[in-house]
Amino acid sequence: MRVPDIIIAVDGYSSTGKSTFAKLVAKAFGFLYLDSGAMYRGVTLFAQEQGYINGANEISPALEAALEGLDLHFENGTQLFMGDRCIEGVIRTMAVSNQVSPVAAVPWVRKWVDERLHRFSENGRVVMDGRDIGTTVFPNAELKVFMIASDQVRAQRRFDEIAAKGENPVFEEVLKNLLERDYIDSHRETSPLVQAPDAFVLDNSEMTLTEEIAWVQGVIQGKFGILC
Ligand code: CDP
Repeated sequence: MRVPDIIIAVDGYSSTGKSTFAKLVAKAFGFLYLDSGAMYRGVTLFAQEQGYINGANEISPALEAALEGLDLHFENGTQLFMGDRCIEGVIRTMAVSNQVSPVAAVPWVRKWVDERLHRFSENGRVVMDGRDIGTTVFPNAELKVFMIASDQVRAQRRFDEIAAKGENPVFEEVLKNLLERDYIDSHRETSPLVQAPDAFVLDNSEMTLTEEIAWVQGVIQGKFGILC
């Protein structure tokens, strides 16, 4: 049976497998997948390349006006573009990961990203993953999932992902980056990462993707009374 026209918000800590899960759900239900973290990574890359952030993570206030001229959008479903340049690969490097959380803590950066996320979602039937989707971006999302997994599992997943792209990660550095981002994301003043009270918790430390899909089908069945 067809899943109703709802918004599915998927939030959680770094590398809990939110994007893999959200992409699968989108494919299974014929929804649009939107990666809000990619937008923060895109803004960070822009700030780095244009010299609006330094090595001490100090962000120039001039970035705010410059953002008005920045075009970040998705093509072919999941590829992030800056103008006509595909930046999907470069936004996932450690250089961007190391500065994205300070950039994402800036209130006017969040406002800029939120406006675009709403624009991209105006036709509904969306699965969006991030940190504050069920709390701030779409507080009325019909289905909210909060994902967790153990630190070791999360770091190993991210390590494998980076290594597969030909970078040479150091496990301890990858783990440190995850924990630092979790800390900044959970402690910032604007839209901190917290579990929405009405979110369903998914701990996928020891789950296969097939089990994750079965889990969400069960949740939908329970909540909307339909088999999908
Ligand atoms: O894939 P991973 O979970 O490691 O991170 P991501 O989803 O690519 O997001 C990168 C960073 O963007 C996060 O660590 C947050 O600092 C920020 N972010 C956010 O503040 N709010 C969101 N809705 C999504 C991401």
